[in-house]
Amino acid sequence: MHIRPRRNRKSEVIRNMVRETGVSLTCLMYPLFMVDGSKKKIAINSMPGIYRWSVDLLLKEIEECLRLGIQSFVLFPAVEDRYKDKMATYSYNSSNFYLEAIRQIKKRFPEACLMSDVAMDPYSSDGHDGLVHEGKILNDETLPILGAMSVAQAEAGIDIIGPSDMMDGRVGFIRQSLDEAGFSETSIMSYTAKYASAFYGPFREALDSAPKSGDKKTYQMDPANRVEALREASLDEDEGADFLMVKPALCYLDVIYLLKQNFELPISAYNVSGEFAMLKAAGEKGWIQYERAMPEMLLSIRRAGADIILTYFAKEYAELIKAGHT
Ligand code: PBG
Repeated sequence: MHIRPRRNRKSEVIRNMVRETGVSLTCLMYPLFMVDGSKKKIAINSMPGIYRWSVDLLLKEIEECLRLGIQSFVLFPAVEDRYKDKMATYSYNSSNFYLEAIRQIKKRFPEACLMSDVAMDPYSSDGHDGLVHEGKILNDETLPILGAMSVAQAEAGIDIIGPSDMMDGRVGFIRQSLDEAGFSETSIMSYTAKYASAFYGPFREALDSAPKSGDKKTYQMDPANRVEALREASLDEDEGADFLMVKPALCYLDVIYLLKQNFELPISAYNVSGEFAMLKAAGEKGWIQYERAMPEMLLSIRRAGADIILTYFAKEYAELIKAGHT
């Protein structure tokens, strides 16, 4: 035997030298949930360690994250029922608490990169990402609402718009709306291949945004499909997306790989709430070594080809690195 792969694993130094992939803090984006009001830090049952923050406390949380080396944040609003309506009008009301908070965060931490969520569900009395009429989700009628929402977020100072709604043509529509309003520098990270997944459950609890009737299968993708992701990606690229996203991440590593092989745009992956909850639960039960499994999960997403990972693990991962664990 003259070929022995184990020689390249014989010491820590050599293993470090031949390591092919890594997860640096610069590739992580940390999703944060927000509520109206002040002095609020509300736990989310199915997401241990994740909270819904009012902006005063969120500013402190962001400061702590920045100090740990997390520089990008994805912001989601949990909207009170009394502000929800069929047309999601609160989403582009420039004095809504979400847009106010974006202004405050940007003013205090101009160096932080902020991404929004664009979809109707947190603001809609129907709990769907698009406009509902007689049980159907209308596509073209939804686009102007998404456009108005995006422009309002750009005005508030958001760096990246994140359309998560899966309506056809929305990236192009949003791009044009932003450009016409003078926001040609505002980026778009498209939720390109977003699947109708069971792994969004804890997120919908966090935002109280579950559909009031039906499901999201007429707009989110069928988990069985791979080639269709290429089709969505081509459209998003043509329509002017700056980043392409695959969501969820762990059950869709092949789709991440596929997009990375076929497109030149940066690829991001959303390590979603259900994936987070699963690992947390197994860790809490003592069935898995959480502190080893968590970095391994993130690594697998990077190895599949993701340049960027949106993950609820971001802050804890930064703390692990600081403590010298990884
Ligand atoms: C809203 C949206 C969802 C997520 C991000 N944006 C939920 C959904 O589509 O129902 C899920 C994120 C997660 O589960 O962590 N359009």
